[in-house]
Formats: sequence, structure tokens, C-alpha cells
Amino acid sequence: MALWGGRFSQESSELFKLFNDSLPVDYRLVEEDIVGSIAWADAIAAVGILTDAECVELKRALGELLEEVQDKPEQIISSGAEDIHSFVEQSLIAKVGDLGKKLHTGRSRNDQVATDLKLWCKKEGQALLGQLTQVRGALLDLAERELDAVMPGYTHLQRAQPVAFGHWCLAYVEMFERDIGRLQDALKRADTCPLGCGALAGTAYPMDRHVLAQSLNFAAPALNSLDAVSDRDHVIELCSDASISMMHLSRMAEDLIFFNSGEAGFIELADQVTSGSSLMPQKKNPDALELIRGKTGRVYGALVGILTTMKALPLAYNKDMQEDKEGLFDVMDSWAICLEMAALVLSGLKVNRANTLSAAQQGYANATELADYLVAKGMPFREAHHVVGEVVVAAIAEKKPIENFELAKLQTFASSIEQDVYDCLTIDSCLAKREALGGTSLPQVKAALNAKR
Ligand code: ARG
Repeated sequence: MALWGGRFSQESSELFKLFNDSLPVDYRLVEEDIVGSIAWADAIAAVGILTDAECVELKRALGELLEEVQDKPEQIISSGAEDIHSFVEQSLIAKVGDLGKKLHTGRSRNDQVATDLKLWCKKEGQALLGQLTQVRGALLDLAERELDAVMPGYTHLQRAQPVAFGHWCLAYVEMFERDIGRLQDALKRADTCPLGCGALAGTAYPMDRHVLAQSLNFAAPALNSLDAVSDRDHVIELCSDASISMMHLSRMAEDLIFFNSGEAGFIELADQVTSGSSLMPQKKNPDALELIRGKTGRVYGALVGILTTMKALPLAYNKDMQEDKEGLFDVMDSWAICLEMAALVLSGLKVNRANTLSAAQQGYANATELADYLVAKGMPFREAHHVVGEVVVAAIAEKKPIENFELAKLQTFASSIEQDVYDCLTIDSCLAKREALGGTSLPQVKAALNAKR
């Protein structure tokens, strides 16, 4: 039974029903819809639409329905209702008869769905905050385990300068902390209650919307009815926050996929999160990381989808907005499972220190050190940079690292080079020099880790 039959003399076509019904997607809002309905029963009882006894009876039936759907959720979809609001209302009427028909007084599905969805966003947002915090924790644990493993740092995917593995971990901690901040910020803005705004113009009953908002744990009521029923900024913000966070996850996944490659061999991933090849017995593939990287695409897609759906929509509610949920649900599911998987991957990850160190020793990652050495001996940096470039060309030609040149040979490039140059070309010295705040010297990385803890 539809909620709106009176004006119509013909049945909806099957195709229209299939096209229009949103229950297969919005069934996930069932708890929010019931909780919102309970709050609404109180609100209309307070303005005399329901007697106290009627209100108690409606709330009892709604509570009972909540337990039933938690117990047997499959009954929602099999009801064939148009949407979750219709399902709740028709189930209520089946339980309490005509009294159930009073609940929708002064309310519209427009303020109802806006409220349900905000409640859902707040709940899921909190869960995601927990999962972001877990990944942050897994990175801190990994930093602690492998803090002083030395590996090459890259720019342009070329070995650039050595860095501590702990420093790499803490780089991602910074990113996930920003994600946490962004999500907290979005949740603050989502914390206004649309219920009591009616279809678009406000409800005709003189209720206290502050009390109503409070009863649903919102910080405040939404202040403009036209905006309240047509605002989907919270959906867009969550999709956007998820997109940025997935971008971080995908970069971390990509780094680790490379570190795990046969070419680098910097890390070993746990068997638990890798898979074999059906053909090649030697393979241990980083599927978990590749899927994190891959799922980033659908999250971006949903963001662009909802932005485009909302673009240029006239006030107030339009059915276009029913398209807001499928993408959002998929975004939050994808984000959550990727974070969970990332934490698992990080917890079982081992660094192969022999490989990271020998890679850091190759590739002329200490060339900058030699330039800085020449600067200390009085050469202007630009000139030192040029001289060291020539040293590197010679070293490549002889297939050896800079530090394997004899002193006399090095002095042919710059006469100021002395025996002490060898001390400054070691990996330890490269790291130790980066001791300004934010650098990769081991004391700095340890201090950064302690500060995070
Ligand atoms: N299923 C609808 C949605 O998700 C609920 C609101 C329907 N409102 C309306 N005026 N038809 O947007």
C-alpha cells in the first residue's frame, strides 16, 4: 500500500514501481527511521495530536518493530514497500490499526529522510573515526618495531636520500590524523536536526524543535526548513573526506606494493593478507593492498556522482536526491573495510633490513651529503651541486659508490676534500644530520613517535 493513493485512480506501472522504489537501498535506515518516529510521537503528543496513552502505545509498537527487524531484517525487503518510511508506517498500522495512521501528522518524508540520513551519517562517522584511529595505532606500532631500519627515500621514484622506516610510518600517521580532524569537523556540521521542517515550509504544529532535536541527540535544530529538507552537504562532505582518506590509503598501499616487489624486497607481507597465483607457484601477491588501491576509484566516483546529482537542483526536495544513499553507503562501507584491512596488513608486516640498508647504500643517496660537505669547506652550494654531479657521473661510469673513490681521486673534483669526507658519506651520518624538527634523524623520529603516543 502506497502512502499517497487518494489523488490517483490508476495503479503505478510495474516498471515505475521498480524505478521509483528505494527500499532495496534505504532499508539500511530502518533503525534511524524507527528512532526518529519515536521522537516524533513525543513531539506531536506534546502539541496535543496524541493523548499520552496513544503516544505510549505508538512508542511501544515502534519499539517492538525495532526488535523484530533487528531479529529478522529480511522481512523489510520482502514487504515490497516503496521505501523505508512506508515500511515502518505500514508495519505500525498492522500492529496498532488506525492509531498508526496518526503518526505522520505534521511530518513529511522529506524531513523524515533528511533526519534518518543525518542520524546514519553521525553513527557511521563515529565508527569510521574509530577505524581511522586503529590504522593510526597500527602505524605507530609498526614505527616502534621498525623505527631505525634504514631505507632509501624516493622522489620521482628515484632513490633520493636515506630515511628511517619509522619516519615513513609517521608520515602516514600525519595523513590519517588530518583525516580524523576532517571527519570530526564534518560531523560537527552534520549535527543539526531537520525533523519538524515538514515537506519544505515548516510544520504547522507549534512544537519545540529544540526539545525534538535534543531527544534525537542532535546539537541543535536545523534553522531553515527549505534548507533542512534539501541539504545533502553532509553526504558530500563524508564522500569527500572518504575520498581524501582513500587517496592516503592508496598512496600507502602503492608504497607497500613497491616495497614488497621482487625488485625492492624491502618488506614481507603476512600470508594472511596475500594470495597465490593459480598458475605460478612462486607468487605471493599483495591483493589486500591492490584492492585498497582499487577501491579508491569507486569512492571518488560516488563523490563526483553526488556532487553532480545535487548540482543546480532547485529548492527544496526533488526526487533526484533519493540517489544520495547508494553511493554514500558504498563509500562508507568501502572506506571502513579498507581501513580495517590496512590495519591488518600493517600489523603483520616485517621489514627486511638487509635489503633496505643495501638499497639505501646504492643509488648515490649520499650525494647531497658530499655537496653539504663542500659547502662546509667554503664552496657555494650551487657550485658544490655541480661538482658532485660530476663525481656521480664518474662513479656511475666506474660502477661504484662515491665513498669507494680514493681520496686522491675525490680531490681531483675539489681540492678542499679531505680524509674526513668518508665519515660524512656514511648512511648513519646522512641520517644523523637531519635533526631539525620534522627530519629523519633517529632522535627526531623517536621524539615524534613519543609525541604521538
Ligand atoms: N525515498 C525518498 C528519498 O530517499 C524519501 C523521500 C520521499 N519524498 C517525496 N517527496 N517523495 O528521497
